[in-house]
Amino acid sequence: MRHFINLKDLKSRDLRKIILDAKKRKIARNKLNTLEPDKDKPLKGKMLIQMFEKASSRTRISFYLAIKQLGGGTLTLRSNELHLGQGGESIADTAKILSTYGDGFMLRTDSDKKIEDFKKYLNIPIINGLSPSSHPTQVLSDVFTVEEIKKKAISKLNICWIGDSNNVLNSLIAASVKFSFKLRIGCPKNFQPSMDIRNWVKKNKKKMFIYNDPKKAVSDADVIFSDKVISMNDKVNKNKKIKQFKDFKINKKLLSYAKNDCIFLHCLPRGDEVDEDIFLGKNSHVWQQALNRVHVQKSILLYCFDKLR
Ligand code: CP
Ligand code: NVA
Repeated sequence: MRHFINLKDLKSRDLRKIILDAKKRKIARNKLNTLEPDKDKPLKGKMLIQMFEKASSRTRISFYLAIKQLGGGTLTLRSNELHLGQGGESIADTAKILSTYGDGFMLRTDSDKKIEDFKKYLNIPIINGLSPSSHPTQVLSDVFTVEEIKKKAISKLNICWIGDSNNVLNSLIAASVKFSFKLRIGCPKNFQPSMDIRNWVKKNKKKMFIYNDPKKAVSDADVIFSDKVISMNDKVNKNKKIKQFKDFKINKKLLSYAKNDCIFLHCLPRGDEVDEDIFLGKNSHVWQQALNRVHVQKSILLYCFDKLR
């Protein structure tokens, strides 16, 4: 069974195949309307069940469009409406039921263990739609967006992350190993990536560069990524943490240290980590980035259904 849980557990070859397929499909759709299926309807008759244990705008809508454009359909559930969420039914039984009715399962959850537990009992592929430790569909799509805009392999670009060491960064670090790109991370000292992930990078004989001075991190960057300082699962003292990040705000001055044609990307939703004029300015490609989720997730679904051309 082909699951899509963490980029670090997927083969570089498969990730590259997904991106290539997304590129072909995006071009082939050209003038089709949003809900018109791709000509080949490769997932005709298939149903994706998606379940959200926390809020989502982009992931929810983009997966809906993705499966529809492949010729299939989706049902979106909130966990608190199920017996599972009410505490009355086990993951094992819920997984059996999902496998009986559906063909694929996308889960956004506060628990990495829950994804693993579902994986154990499901007979259908599971996709991680964001967990505390990673956000793989977002980041694979972001690799696609970077290459689409820059018209170059991401391995030839300097990628920079300014912000918290969260789920999105963990997936970006995994992508830096899988796609061999240089990653510079700018964050306060006490918010650096965990030793676990740093050791994983070392074990894979790759490097990432961590700076506590944001100017050094953005220096010569082709791409700057950011995300909210406070994530959905963050249980810290919010005001204190935001204050600790005050020198890491992305503004005109900080951007001036990057290359002139540096692009700015952000998975959204946003907070105060970026100035409005940068977020809405000429370097920013955040709306194109959000739209590409649809295209890349289609190819992720095809990978999971073993239908990648
Ligand atoms: N970027 C992203 O995953 O957005 P949502 O939380 O709205 O799904
Ligand atoms: N790091 C953010 C990403 C939201 C898409 C969070 O987990 O809330």
